[in-house]
Amino acid sequence: MLRMGVMKKHFQLALMFCLLCLELGGFCNCGDGSICREVERKALVDFKNGLEDPNGRLSSWIGLDCCSWTGVHCHNYTGHVIRLDLHNYGVIGRVPHQLGNLSRLQYLDLSYNFLDMVGSHWLTNLSSLQCLNLNGVNLSEAKNVLKSLNTLPLISEINLCDCELHVPLSLGVEINFTNLGFLDLSSNGINSTMPLWLFKLSGLEYLNLGGNNFQVRIAGLPTTLGKLCNLIELVLSGNKYFSGDLNRLGETFSMCLKNSLEVLYWSDASLSGPLPSWLGNLKPLKVLDLAYNSFYGSLLQLRLPSLQILDLSYNNCNGTIPKYFGQLSPELDMLVLSYNNIAVRPDWVPPPKLRVLNMNDCKVGPRFPPWLQNLKNLSSLAMSNASIVDALPQWFWNFSLDIGYIDLSHNEIKGKIPSGSSKLTNLRVLDLSHNYLEGQLPQFSSNIVDLDQAHGLFSRSRSIPSSFCELNHLQFLDLSKNMIEGVVPDCWNLSMDVMDLSYNNLHGIIPVSICTTFSSVLRLSNNEFFGELPSSFKNCTSLISLDLEHNKISGSIPVWLGENLQALETLELRYNMLTGTIPPQLGNLTYLHVIDVSNNHLSGWSGIEHYVNNIDINMKGREFQLEGRIPSLFICIDLSNNMLSRKIPEELAHLSFLQSLNLSRNQLSGQLSEKIGELRWLEVLDLSVNNLSGAIPPTMTNLTSLNHLNLSYNNFYGEIPYGGQFQVLLDPSIYFGNRGLCGVPLNTKCEIEALVQPLGLPNNEDDNNLEAIWFYLSMSLGFICGFWAISGALILKKSWRYAYFRFVDHIYNKIYVLIAINLKKMKRKCCLARE
Ligand SMILES: *[C@@H]1O[C@H](CO)[C@@H](O)[C@H](O)[C@H]1NC(C)=O
Ligand SMILES: *[C@@H]1O[C@H](CO)[C@@H](O)[C@H](O)[C@H]1NC(C)=O
Ligand SMILES: *[C@@H]1O[C@H](CO)[C@@H](O)[C@H](O)[C@H]1NC(C)=O
Ligand SMILES: *[C@@H]1O[C@H](CO)[C@@H](O)[C@H](O)[C@H]1NC(C)=O
Ligand SMILES: *[C@@H]1O[C@H](CO)[C@@H](O)[C@H](O)[C@H]1NC(C)=O
Ligand SMILES: *[C@@H]1O[C@H](CO)[C@@H](O)[C@H](O)[C@H]1NC(C)=O
Ligand SMILES: *[C@@H]1O[C@H](CO)[C@@H](O)[C@H](O)[C@H]1NC(C)=O
Ligand SMILES: *[C@@H]1O[C@H](CO)[C@@H](O)[C@H](O)[C@H]1NC(C)=O
Ligand SMILES: *[C@@H]1O[C@H](CO)[C@@H](O)[C@H](O)[C@H]1NC(C)=O
Ligand SMILES: *[C@@H]1O[C@H](CO)[C@@H](O)[C@H](O)[C@H]1NC(C)=O
Ligand SMILES: *[C@@H]1O[C@H](CO)[C@@H](O)[C@H](O)[C@H]1NC(C)=O
Ligand SMILES: *[C@@H]1O[C@H](CO)[C@@H](O)[C@H](O)[C@H]1NC(C)=O
Repeated sequence: MLRMGVMKKHFQLALMFCLLCLELGGFCNCGDGSICREVERKALVDFKNGLEDPNGRLSSWIGLDCCSWTGVHCHNYTGHVIRLDLHNYGVIGRVPHQLGNLSRLQYLDLSYNFLDMVGSHWLTNLSSLQCLNLNGVNLSEAKNVLKSLNTLPLISEINLCDCELHVPLSLGVEINFTNLGFLDLSSNGINSTMPLWLFKLSGLEYLNLGGNNFQVRIAGLPTTLGKLCNLIELVLSGNKYFSGDLNRLGETFSMCLKNSLEVLYWSDASLSGPLPSWLGNLKPLKVLDLAYNSFYGSLLQLRLPSLQILDLSYNNCNGTIPKYFGQLSPELDMLVLSYNNIAVRPDWVPPPKLRVLNMNDCKVGPRFPPWLQNLKNLSSLAMSNASIVDALPQWFWNFSLDIGYIDLSHNEIKGKIPSGSSKLTNLRVLDLSHNYLEGQLPQFSSNIVDLDQAHGLFSRSRSIPSSFCELNHLQFLDLSKNMIEGVVPDCWNLSMDVMDLSYNNLHGIIPVSICTTFSSVLRLSNNEFFGELPSSFKNCTSLISLDLEHNKISGSIPVWLGENLQALETLELRYNMLTGTIPPQLGNLTYLHVIDVSNNHLSGWSGIEHYVNNIDINMKGREFQLEGRIPSLFICIDLSNNMLSRKIPEELAHLSFLQSLNLSRNQLSGQLSEKIGELRWLEVLDLSVNNLSGAIPPTMTNLTSLNHLNLSYNNFYGEIPYGGQFQVLLDPSIYFGNRGLCGVPLNTKCEIEALVQPLGLPNNEDDNNLEAIWFYLSMSLGFICGFWAISGALILKKSWRYAYFRFVDHIYNKIYVLIAINLKKMKRKCCLARE
């Protein structure tokens, strides 16, 4: 209904405009074809000229007909630009106010670029705007953006996730937003009280406030929330400052909201107390995510007939779940009760359609749960540490043909794994580690086997059977930490993606067949492998991570490593017996950011150790933990084209063997430390296209190896140092785009005033950039947006979160999205609906 209304208005407007054109005659195009309007073309040209376009995505923006440029769509009859869609173009720069000249724009998407915006008044000119997506645009200097949007009569969708809004969101007295249906303000670190005008937007269908720090007294929430009669999805997750008694929301949730709300994400929000009984009023509710809170007491009998997804993991609920728990929710698809103190009775009658059941740390045993047999459609089962002390029943290997993920680790499951083939043909992950099983692996057609620390399974043979080579669809094999001995069979003929054999007692030369063009992660560390790196590894062209540390590998680091393994991101070779030098070809690996070759016999490179354990990363108030360490020796760091911000950490100066440092095209600010002069091996330094400021430290003239320097497009100021190595750095373009620089080789002579630092310095921001660097290395762009509306349970194993992030992503896509998100994704519906 909302959309129809908007479209009708839009049509009327277009018609009116066309009639007006006819009356005025001349200039505008009402007929066929869409020819760009000069004013709008100029506005787009201004826009382009103010930007860096590293990927050349705007190269089609030439000529007179702007309607044919990529990302630009014009109205067929009027020739006005009505859509501008530049999401994920890698454009860098500032959104100019000239865009206000695109006065008929209906749709504007600039998300996921490296843009910022100063001032927002020009938005008020876009009176036809319906959909706006500025996710990831830095709006910290555009503080009144919501006020500006409030003047737009047709605006119906606003995406402002991860925009650095921080400030309280005030609107003033008059609240327009009559057509607003979709509002995403997530991940902005806003720490004000909850703006109450939000609860007056009666047309809202989707409201995402996740990942902020709104301070909310529950008793102070207005009952107008209950009058959002169109609200379908509400995301409040990740706001840690809710306080008060949830039962006080009983009145609110008995108003019309209870008839519309289908999705409620309210995890990680410091909620406590018994589960409030008003939850039972929400009859249309399909998704309820209350994970990572402190709810206690017993589980309610769920009277939610539409419920499909329930996540109560990481709370303090206790007691035994009732026999018919879940029966009143016959559509229940996904039930996540992990990490509570919940017990399950053996005669539980589970909801029959369950596809995902997570009960890690629940008391399910001691009997192996017989009710599992009734879950014919189960596709994911997580029952790690569930007090099961029993034999694995025969039916287990056949009970649900759909099952893709099984984790029964950390129980006391005994008995022999039956030989012969299993009918579990879709199995992708099987984790039976930390049990007392014996026998051989059955012939799964599984493509993931995770048996880390599966002590029992290898107790007899203690070696990897060659039958493993027959697991033709195997994509993931983790046999780490099993005390496996012997040589690894050289019979692999697989499209293996991830193989982890680390922490065993394997010896012999590295089998030739272990790495193929399909491999992306290979970990053989902490074994006794010897001999040289097989030259067949030349063919492992997709390898992202190679970890061979703590072995006895000898020979030199092959030159082809730098030539063939172009995808390599991490290379860990420490504690081996490698000789020779580090081939400079490694410096050509575009994605390599971790190289650790310490503790070998390389000429001139050994002996540096530099561990950082368990780095806590605080990203917008949410803590992530990275297990592991920063490897000892960087020679080449390339973090260009990311979104790194703040200062370059002084710690970089400790990376004393650094040869190449490329931090270009980020959002780094602050001044360069004098200590940069200590990086005496530095040959390449590219800091172009950032917001760095201050003077170029004179210590840099001591960098005698420096032969490639680029400082262009920053805010550097003052005199370019002279003498030393700077006598050979005479290409003026390496300093372009810094208005304050003067001296040789630029034409600008230095006046006395130019030596004075601009106001606002020095810059004392905190220095946790190394951590930020690691954060960005681990995260793919756009992960933060959308995170708050994903059930936390989808990330099944904590240890996988980062180590195999891509891989998890892969599983996540293949199995879970299919199940969980068959609820229509509301996002973007407005934007896709019209063209
Ligand atoms: C665009 O807007 C600016 C003001 O924001 C104005 O000065 C300019 O004349 C307008 N027209 C063009 C073609 O840029
Ligand atoms: C505009 O023109 C294009 C191509 O000529 C056509 O595919 C599209 O349907 C037209 N749209 C409208 C709203 O007429
Ligand atoms: C608003 O749009 C009109 C043309 O419709 C233009 O003349 C004016 O300069 C624009 N204002 C801004 C601030 O861009
Ligand atoms: C509300 O919208 C009208 C028309 O679009 C506009 O004139 C008015 O300034 C808006 N009010 C506020 C407070 O922005
Ligand atoms: C909100 O954050 C700002 C800076 O981010 C800080 O100055 C302010 O004290 C915070 N306010 C509250 C209420 O925590
Ligand atoms: C559940 O926890 C509450 C309070 O934490 C306690 O009083 C109650 O005895 C517990 N119930 C069970 C069955 O353990
Ligand atoms: C299992 O799934 C199939 C196909 O999706 C469906 O026909 C069947 O009814 C489901 N079984 C149960 C018990 O829900
Ligand atoms: C198993 O669960 C108990 C609580 O039920 C917990 O204390 C223990 O740490 C868990 N063990 C493992 C290995 O996760
Ligand atoms: C590597 O690939 C080439 C061409 O694809 C093939 O001829 C060669 O046998 C492969 N080498 C090994 C050791 O697999
Ligand atoms: C790096 O690659 C470039 C271009 O592909 C090539 O010219 C250069 O020789 C390579 N450097 C090394 C050390 O291999
Ligand atoms: C956003 O812009 C502000 C002001 O320019 C700046 O201080 C801040 O560091 C920027 N944030 C990011 C993530 O770049
Ligand atoms: C260069 O290095 C030498 C010795 O390492 C030091 O004495 C000198 O001050 C340095 N020059 C600058 C400009 O930092």
